[in-house]
Amino acid sequence: MIAVIPAAGMGTRFLPATKAMPKEMLPVLDKPVIQYVVEEALDSGVSEVVIVNSRAKREIEEHFSADEALVESLRAAGKDTYADAVERAGSLSVSYVYQDEPLGLGDAIRCAAERAAGESFLVLLGDVIVTDSSVVRRLAEVSAEHGGASVVAVFEVPGDEISRYGVIGGEPMGDGVWKVDRLVEKPAKEEAPSNLAIFGRYLLSNKVMELLQVARPGAGGEIQLTDAIDGALTAEEVYAVVIDPRVGHDTGTVAAWLETNVRLALDDPRYADSIRKALGD
Ligand code: G1P
Repeated sequence: MIAVIPAAGMGTRFLPATKAMPKEMLPVLDKPVIQYVVEEALDSGVSEVVIVNSRAKREIEEHFSADEALVESLRAAGKDTYADAVERAGSLSVSYVYQDEPLGLGDAIRCAAERAAGESFLVLLGDVIVTDSSVVRRLAEVSAEHGGASVVAVFEVPGDEISRYGVIGGEPMGDGVWKVDRLVEKPAKEEAPSNLAIFGRYLLSNKVMELLQVARPGAGGEIQLTDAIDGALTAEEVYAVVIDPRVGHDTGTVAAWLETNVRLALDDPRYADSIRKALGD
């Protein structure tokens, strides 16, 4: 099974920081956001990680390429920790497909159709960092329990925030699992079928990929992944797993990205003391 990571977005919310740099390359502590997402995917045991890139963004590909000269010079200078970090980034196995126009998340995902090769696939959105593979492993577990069905991770969201997300409707089956009967992208608050929003981690069947090939624009005039999953419901079952939102660290807005940096720094022995001091604790 492959994992697809869309990375062709514009990064508008981070301008001017993202004027000359992809938003996926913004650092959280000492690593770019997209490296966390790639590591999460690889830790879950996928066969291939496919980044949907835009042709304009060479930096992401440079980041995941080997740089032997840099590693050598760092080693010669006795900077082995940095050499190891550079080597690691260059050794993560990723490949690329390209989205030529920003037509929406569903369009980004369908760019990876050939790579998915008719099988189920994972989707990991880069706006949220999950520092281990627990969420994707849970999706795989629930999918296996239901004959390989599509499964989306969802989390509870307060009413006034629900229209920012894709939202599921359905029936709880116990153990945090829901049988989904409807998915709606960015519903008005009054029309949301539940308070459970799509979190940005999906395990999807090939049927969803097939539907994306013929998808038409939905909410916001964009090709929506949520609509294709909803369309698959006429042919097959879809499940949702409710997760604790605290497993995710949002990087989608400047405020959330700052908060994520602080929270992860407080958890990291390399930075915890100085951050605590700076915050006056
Ligand atoms: C995307 C999805 C949405 C999901 C959200 C999670 O929306 O379309 O269904 O709930 O990610 O972050 P976006 O944030 O790109 O508008």
